Amino acid sequence: MKRNTVLWIVVAAVVVLAIGLAMKKPAEKAAPGEAQKELPVLKVGTDAAFPPFEFQDEKTGELKGFDLDLIRAIADEMGMKAEIINTAWDGIIPGLLNGNYDVIASGMTITDERAQSVDFSDPYFTAGQVIVVLAENETIKTPQDLTGKKVSCQINTTGDLAASKMKGIAEIKRFNLAPDAFLELKNGGVDACIMDRAVAEDFVKQDKSFKIVGNPITVEYYGFAIRKGREDLLKEINRALAALKSSGKYDEIYAKYFGTES
Ligand code: ARG
Repeated sequence: MKRNTVLWIVVAAVVVLAIGLAMKKPAEKAAPGEAQKELPVLKVGTDAAFPPFEFQDEKTGELKGFDLDLIRAIADEMGMKAEIINTAWDGIIPGLLNGNYDVIASGMTITDERAQSVDFSDPYFTAGQVIVVLAENETIKTPQDLTGKKVSCQINTTGDLAASKMKGIAEIKRFNLAPDAFLELKNGGVDACIMDRAVAEDFVKQDKSFKIVGNPITVEYYGFAIRKGREDLLKEINRALAALKSSGKYDEIYAKYFGTES
């Protein structure tokens, strides 16, 4: 063989090898690491002191509840992964507007006032405010009986709004956390507490020193709140919610927290 021929064979071999390696590289990269590609994250703001909608498991610290199961399932349906951010109720909307999270899932009632600053998903739960008193109380049975009485609620909630609209209440004590509004009632600091029905029912179930009186005093609907102008996200959330309703997944989550089907 001529020297030149040998040289060309060597050059050709090197080129073939180089091409082979170059082609192999991306394939190698795509193997295990990239196969489990991270899902896009849906950041969810919640005030996790509102059982059974959102609460922290005392033992594990895990954030649980109807809203959180539902928004996790919605994220899943959208091909995303929900990341739950526990935040204070008062300031939860500013936090959304600030971009701290993409969506609020926090037992938030759809109101006209809130709808001026945020967009709401389709309603996902029917709610209403109830009056909670101590079990032995025999004098408070209707909203009218709250005249001259002290009432507790969570600050800037629709319970706060309902109490503020009632004429004749002697004092409204507003708390940052819903459980503290109940505690104030238990401690005798107020005569009644105004709270979302399912949350009140949960507290009454845990603590027999409370009772709910009368029927709900409002009719409300919970919605997921997102920043205005995010039409695509809003559409996707509504599509996912509808899909979960028709697949039976919504009913399954509902039954987990409320026993019966929605
Ligand atoms: N439904 C009421 C409202 O929208 C109370 C919601 C409070 N939620 C909470 N996670 N603390 O005003």
